[in-house]
Amino acid sequence: MSISAEDIKKLKQEVGIAAAQRVKSGMVVGLGTGSTTAFAIEELGRRLAAGELTDIVGIPTSFQASVLGKKYGIPIRSLDDVDRVDVAIDGADEVDPHKTLIKGGGAAHTREKVVDSLATLFIVVVDESKLVDKLGSTFAVPLEVLPMAISPVTRAVEKLGGKPDLRMGIKKDGPVITDQGNMVLDVTFEAIADAAELEKTLNNIPGVVENGLFVGVTDLILVGEFKDGKPQI
Ligand code: 5RP
Repeated sequence: MSISAEDIKKLKQEVGIAAAQRVKSGMVVGLGTGSTTAFAIEELGRRLAAGELTDIVGIPTSFQASVLGKKYGIPIRSLDDVDRVDVAIDGADEVDPHKTLIKGGGAAHTREKVVDSLATLFIVVVDESKLVDKLGSTFAVPLEVLPMAISPVTRAVEKLGGKPDLRMGIKKDGPVITDQGNMVLDVTFEAIADAAELEKTLNNIPGVVENGLFVGVTDLILVGEFKDGKPQI
């Protein structure tokens, strides 16, 4: 049974709020990117304003997360200002049974991988539509690529058996540009047999800044799903 866009939004909200409830006063919090994490950031702001939380700081994984964090009153810091990340909350585009992820639907996977990997506790927040048996079945692997290297990286990825597609903006009048000023190739693979190996292989191509495979990073997955007609986690 397919879930309506409205119901998916409800699940994202439930799961985002549930993740934000796990944050404690004094924590350094990695702020992920995307529509699910946006609900977590909003809830963190609500808890701060209500006095339920004090002294947290947010490390944004994107310009979007930084803007949202500021909007909801979360003090924003950089990795230069802190010596740890206690918890990171971030979404994903696919999650497999080994807790391996594909991320980068928001073109933010490079900074997300830095912040999420540093976290003592990395919480992934997804609705049930993101769960897959095999990675790559619904989503391509995003690569952030230096613009001057787009052509050679495209050829290198094709040699590996991937089908690369330059990500275009909503109006299709130009490529998506990341927060770092790079472009994104979405690479479809017929099958991803070994995600850890593919993650390394892709990052070894000169010109690739980072790819969206997250292997061995996830600590906890919160999944929003409908049970008995009600959103639950
Ligand atoms: C951004 C990401 C997002 O976390 C991912 O695309 C999920 O987004 P959403 O919560 O909007 O479904 O990886 O680069």
